[in-house]
Amino acid sequence: NGVQDYYLTDEVRQLISTLPREKDFDGTYLYQYQEGFWYRPTYIVGILSAQRHFQARDDDIILITYPKSGTTWLKALTYAIVHRSHYAFEHSPLLTANPHELVPFIDHPAYYSENHCPRNLEHLPNSTHSIFGTHIPYPSIPRSIMNSNCRIVYMCRNPLDQFISYWHFMVKIAQDRETEPLSLEEALERVSHGIQGFGPSWEHVLGYWRASLENPNKILFLKYEDVMEDTLFYVKKMAEFLGCPFSSVEENQGVIEEISKLCSFENMKDLEVNKTGRLVPPGAPKNSFFFREGKVGDWTNYLTSPMLECLKNLMEEKFSGSGLTF
Ligand code: A3P
Repeated sequence: NGVQDYYLTDEVRQLISTLPREKDFDGTYLYQYQEGFWYRPTYIVGILSAQRHFQARDDDIILITYPKSGTTWLKALTYAIVHRSHYAFEHSPLLTANPHELVPFIDHPAYYSENHCPRNLEHLPNSTHSIFGTHIPYPSIPRSIMNSNCRIVYMCRNPLDQFISYWHFMVKIAQDRETEPLSLEEALERVSHGIQGFGPSWEHVLGYWRASLENPNKILFLKYEDVMEDTLFYVKKMAEFLGCPFSSVEENQGVIEEISKLCSFENMKDLEVNKTGRLVPPGAPKNSFFFREGKVGDWTNYLTSPMLECLKNLMEEKFSGSGLTF
């Protein structure tokens, strides 16, 4: 099963034999682990490794998302903001490397297998900031992330678009690995029970939403749709939050516009590296899988009325009273 099994340790092999399991959208199994969240076995290895080995530093930046909520975009934007003085835009590493190569996931077991820490992937010695990504839910996040002064940026997405995006991604993964994907109807049934990688999605989003309300200086909570509607405003806001605001000279030079353009879906999707590249571990997704439509509201092209009703009822039930609206 390609990357699914590649990094499995004896410990996790043994562990998953005792856990409840359900099929993910690509037909492979998810296992219910800490706090009731659902994971591919390889990510259980990654989460355990992150909890044991990852030590956040005060000047780290941790980007957290629920899968298919704009992770790739958030990584690109943050990288471009933080490293803006290190590269001219026409020489940005974002033009020749996928954002997932530049901003490693702390929960990917590949980064622990040889040297026990994704920090060893740092290749920008002139930068004080290290940027990392993760999908780990709030209750399982390595404690040093919450206990240090590092900053967290969380991006969520309208659950209707997230569902459609996740389904398309998993269909591509299944085709690539020659497994049998679930139909959209079957996938919806899973989602209504919270069964999706790193799900239940509402638990994931609400965990960070509540934490951001309690600690707004620690966690900047963004919505994909808001950033899409006014990218310039949010690039500026992110830079301020991350402690590297734009100077008036930079603003006048159009640096915010350059960052927004560099990281735009249209620009990134057409880059050679994102059309033809593939992430490193065997069986990992092709870079092109991370760029599909990049639109708000694509769900209208896929959801039937009963499906929409089911998802809307779920959203009402899970998010009402939280103050978070989509
Ligand atoms: P769609 O499938 O709706 O097109 P993630 O990065 O969390 O895996 O999420 C992938 C989703 O973000 C996909 O959504 C993808 O097209 C979209 N995406 C990727 N890069 C983007 C960018 N630079 N700007 C906006 N959306 C982007």
